[in-house]
Amino acid sequence: METNLRNRLSEIIGEIKEISLLEEQGCTSEVRKIITKGETYLLKSSFNERYREWLKQESEVLKKLKNENIIPVPKYYGYIEDHESNHVIMSFENGISLTSSLKKANTIEKKKSLIQSFGQLLHQLHETKLIHELSTSDDWLEYQLNKAQQHLEIGNVDGTLELLTKLKATVPNPVKQTMIHGDCTTDNVLVIDGIASMFIDVSAMTVGDPRYDISLAIRKFKDNEEFIKAFYTGYTRYKVTTEEHKFNEGLYEFF
Ligand SMILES: Nc1ncnc2c1ncn2[C@@H]1O[C@H](COP(=O)(O)OP(=O)(O)OP(=O)(O)O)[C@@H](O)[C@H]1O
Ligand SMILES: [Mg+2]
Repeated sequence: METNLRNRLSEIIGEIKEISLLEEQGCTSEVRKIITKGETYLLKSSFNERYREWLKQESEVLKKLKNENIIPVPKYYGYIEDHESNHVIMSFENGISLTSSLKKANTIEKKKSLIQSFGQLLHQLHETKLIHELSTSDDWLEYQLNKAQQHLEIGNVDGTLELLTKLKATVPNPVKQTMIHGDCTTDNVLVIDGIASMFIDVSAMTVGDPRYDISLAIRKFKDNEEFIKAFYTGYTRYKVTTEEHKFNEGLYEFF
């Protein structure tokens, strides 16, 4: 690690004993485990302009949540901005992503139990009192459609103009907004001791449409009836319809 970054890190967390790259890496960042005398931290770094912006946003969300203590996320310790990279320091949590846990689980029962706990975790998030400091707009869905339009104009998304036009014409009837994760895939949930316990990668966490979270959560196993049933055993507050699911999958193409 570059000396300047190491020094700035030490100013925040004290003398560093050990740094190692994690076995499990994300797509948009580099994650490292950092051990000091008394603590273990996670350093998340991004280098590309778009991803640096997301990481900055993530640091702001974690910072705001640090004192709330009501949504299970890693604890925020600091943020460093360099010429060519951004870095967030958070607590190191002893878990692996739900995606990896599901791959490792060697029986259907184990997989179902993991999925049910995921449903429960998301249910709790959607029932949490609103944290207005994290809110981006009064109407999250409208705001996201505008952002989708912008992303389309910049041109680095999978979605097409045809799809966006269709989405705008088929906006689902509104539901009560809740706290949402905003990118609630199985990659962004940590499993600790066999239970989906914590949200990570929280740059999009805000007040928004809970159906978007559900749709992303069940996306990878939506054709598996047993798994869907397990999810909704944990998540009992609402079931997305096929149309809502389609809409949200479409919206996701722009992010
Ligand atoms: N606080 C933490 N403690 C322990 N491990 C973590 C922590 N945060 C992230 N990880 C590990 O790092 C991996 C990548 O994290 P994260 O999802 O935040 O990165 P990302 O690059 O934004 O992901 P992607 O772009 O693929 O969605 C996770 O799968 C997890 O294994
Ligand atoms: Mg991720």
